Amino acid sequence: MSYRKSSAQTNDLFPREIDIEVCLKTLKIYQKMEGDVNCVVWDASLVLAKYLETMCHHKSDFLSGIKVLELGSGLGVVGLTAATLGAQVTLTDLPESLPLLRLNINENKAKIGSMGGYAIAESLIWGDNSSLLDEEFDMVVLADCIYYEEAVDSLFETLNNLNKTSAKKPVIYLTQELRDSDIQKNLWTSFYEKLIDKFEVERIPEEEQHSNYRSPDIVLLRINKK
Ligand SMILES: C[S@@+](CC[C@H](N)C(=O)[O-])C[C@H]1O[C@@H](n2cnc3c(N)ncnc32)[C@H](O)[C@@H]1O
Repeated sequence: MSYRKSSAQTNDLFPREIDIEVCLKTLKIYQKMEGDVNCVVWDASLVLAKYLETMCHHKSDFLSGIKVLELGSGLGVVGLTAATLGAQVTLTDLPESLPLLRLNINENKAKIGSMGGYAIAESLIWGDNSSLLDEEFDMVVLADCIYYEEAVDSLFETLNNLNKTSAKKPVIYLTQELRDSDIQKNLWTSFYEKLIDKFEVERIPEEEQHSNYRSPDIVLLRINKK
């Protein structure tokens, strides 16, 4: 197996292939054998990536040319899917996640470009005053990010500050796996209560999602600023 040159450690990586049926392309996503939560592809990211694909199946230009921001990208499945389907995507995560994220962007570069899409990775720490908040995005995506007790308020603040200097508000698509532990249940409840206070929130029914990539344990929300 050969890897592209990158500052990511490559000897502990293994690839996962993810088909994008609607454009007959296969993403190759490198995961780590060992590490923290940002080292594997999470199911919630597959549900969101496949929902975007389903939307493109119904409306082929759904993502064409639009500016998309992904928060907490991890290995980049959602952002890379959107870029392969024609979007201009900025994938973001903590600084330490960027080498592997960039490796995954490089690995899929030819596929991303084939429909006019584009992908870059940048650091965006939730709650920080990033210059990305001054940019104008059409869409924001995030999968399985309501996970960290210490960071959930900062994540909400970032969502609330998007397109800060623009009158245009992005549509936000969020997936979240609902876990059984009391800590995770409370985290989700308190995040959701804050969310519905400031945003219009619509749960996308399972029958509108990809027929093979949906689950009663994973919520998919379409969110707009009130
Ligand atoms: C559970 S993982 C989900 C990753 C990816 N979205 C997926 O579903 O496969 C949560 C992601 O949030 C990132 N993250 C955690 N705390 C963060 C923070 N304070 N600011 C930005 N990103 C953060 C982690 O590095 C990780 O990639």
